[in-house]
Parts: sequence; structure tokens; C-alpha cells
Amino acid sequence: MTSRYQEMTMLDLVLGLPEQMAEAEVNARRAGLGRRRRYSNVVVAGMGGSAISGHICRTLLAETNQVHVLVCRRYDLPALVTDKTLFVGISYSGNTEETLSATRHARKRGCDMVFITTGGRLGRMAKRMAVPVVGVPAGLQPRAALGHLCTSLLVALERLGICKSFKSALNEAVTLMVDRREAWLRQAGAIARKLDGNLPMVYGTSPLLEAVLDRWRSQLNENSEVMCHTSMLSEHNHNEVVGMGRPGWLARRSVIVALHDRSSPKQNRTRLAHVLDITRGGYREAIHVESEGRSALARVFSLIMIGDLVSVELAALRGVDAMPVERIVELKRRMAGGKKRSRR
Ligand code: F6R
Repeated sequence: MTSRYQEMTMLDLVLGLPEQMAEAEVNARRAGLGRRRRYSNVVVAGMGGSAISGHICRTLLAETNQVHVLVCRRYDLPALVTDKTLFVGISYSGNTEETLSATRHARKRGCDMVFITTGGRLGRMAKRMAVPVVGVPAGLQPRAALGHLCTSLLVALERLGICKSFKSALNEAVTLMVDRREAWLRQAGAIARKLDGNLPMVYGTSPLLEAVLDRWRSQLNENSEVMCHTSMLSEHNHNEVVGMGRPGWLARRSVIVALHDRSSPKQNRTRLAHVLDITRGGYREAIHVESEGRSALARVFSLIMIGDLVSVELAALRGVDAMPVERIVELKRRMAGGKKRSRR
């Protein structure tokens, strides 16, 4: 990687999330996007650190929008994708095979398309197929480019007439993160110390937090190199509650991190209190984290930033370098026909 990000650690990058979002908004407003049309749905195709932006937009738009946003993390596309679908291909590297394959399917279905990428094969496809691209700067791990990818997607959807403007919510989120990041880093350090050596079980009490749970899990997986379980209330109460703390060796080894938002139904908060009581002894400890901010977007990003910081702090406690993801690289190499084996 030869870029302005070269000297930055994962902690620097997480702390720089608000600046990244502010920069991305300016860039995305300048990108040429083609004409606006009335679409029956939007499909965002991507994987991992690129797909999460689609998931965040989906949960944000679900609260206010009539147009359904579907996130496709697969090689092909479901039947609801037609020539009335707006297809957004997101791949930070531009080289992820599932995303490239889904893009070929979208072309066959006659979708209007937009790509968000640094280039790679997706960038070359865009040139060949005359597809508009919102470009993002290269040199980052895809998951560390969340600010660029997610903001670009929100702005592109707004400019294509899919949703209302998130401009003031983005401004609020940026200001909030700048003001609160040092305090959140201290909070994250305390959470990470409790998670160290235990299984994180991240619970959400509002549907708005669906993508936040996804982000906490994948950041703990990729930055801290640990397993993480997630679950959403109240569905949890209809199945998982029975299995909690079983097998027994898990009971003293699982730490619940419950994420709350002001949109959390009060019944879900009550349900969680009952769960923690009924299953007492089936988990080590429960930590509660409340979102901050006014707009849904700012609240979602407050919890995302805290989770990202927890993952970096936990990596430090575990003596793990949060940046590389050797197993992902090795899998991609094998799938591309490469031979080299990794022992990690
Ligand atoms: C690596 C990461 C991965 C990638 C995924 C897809 O930091 O987060 O989850 O995002 O392997 O690759 P891209 O984003 O390049 O399409």
C-alpha cells in the first residue's frame, strides 16, 4: 500500500471515521451518476467490509423509505431483481468474485447500475459497460473504508432520488464523533478488558441496530481475531434464551454486550432484564451501551464507532495486529487458483 494511509494504525483509522465521512460526502456529490428514474427496488451487492454499508443504508432507509433495499452477499441475484431495479455494486478492491459475478447477473437482467470502488476489475467493467462510478481512495483495508463506502452510498441513493438527503444527519454524526471519540475510546477500553478471554455476545434491542450488530461481530472477527455471537431481541426470547449458558463451559465464558437505542421498544428492554434474571449464572457479565445523538444515522454511527474502538482495544490486549486478515487473503488466493498455504 503506497498511500496517505500507509503510516496509520487501525486505531488511527477508526478515530478518523468522522473526517473520512466528511471527505466522502464532498467526493460523492461531485461524482457523475447518470439520470434519475423511478425504481421498484434497490439491490446493493457486496461482501464483508463493503457489504456492511449496504446493510447500514438498508436499516436507515427501512425506517423512512418506501423503496426496499436488499443487500446481496452472493454470486447471483434473487428473482426480484429486474430491469426496474437499481443495482449498486460495492467492492472496495473491485476484485471480489461474488460481487463481480452478481454484477454480471445484474447486467443480464437489464438493471441500471452504479459502482462504488477504488477500481480493480469492477472499475474496468464500469469503463467497458459505461457504468457511473463513485470512486473512493485506495490504500485502506475495506473495513477501514466504511466512512467512504457508506457515505458514498447514502449520497448516491439521495442523488438518484431513492431517499431524502442525509446531509444534516451526516453533519451531526461527524460532529458527535469528533466530540465524543476520546471518551468512547476510554469506554471501549473498559469493555475490551471485560471481553478479553471471553466470548462476546452482542445483543440488540432495536431493529435499527441490525447492521450495528453485524459491524460489531465482523470487527471483532477481523480486528481482534475472535469469535463473536450476535442476537436481536425480541426474537432471541423465542429460541436462544433456552440455549443460553449451555454447554456449561460457556456459561462463565460469555459476556453480553447489550446495545440500546432510543428506538428500542420498552418491551424489549423489559424482556432483556427478565432474560438476564432468568439465565443468571448462564453468562459471566452483561454490559449495556446506549447510542448517542439525535438522528438515526448519528445514533447508528455512535455505536459503530464504539464497537470499532472495542475491536481495536481488544486486539491490543490480545497482542494481535488489527490490520492484516491473513485467512481472508489466503482464501481469496486459493479461490483464484493460488497454491500457497498459511498456517494461521
Ligand atoms: C477486509 C474486509 C473484508 C473485505 C471482503 C470483500 O478488510 O473487511 O471483509 O471487505 O473480503 O472485499 P472488498 O471489500 O474488496 O470487495
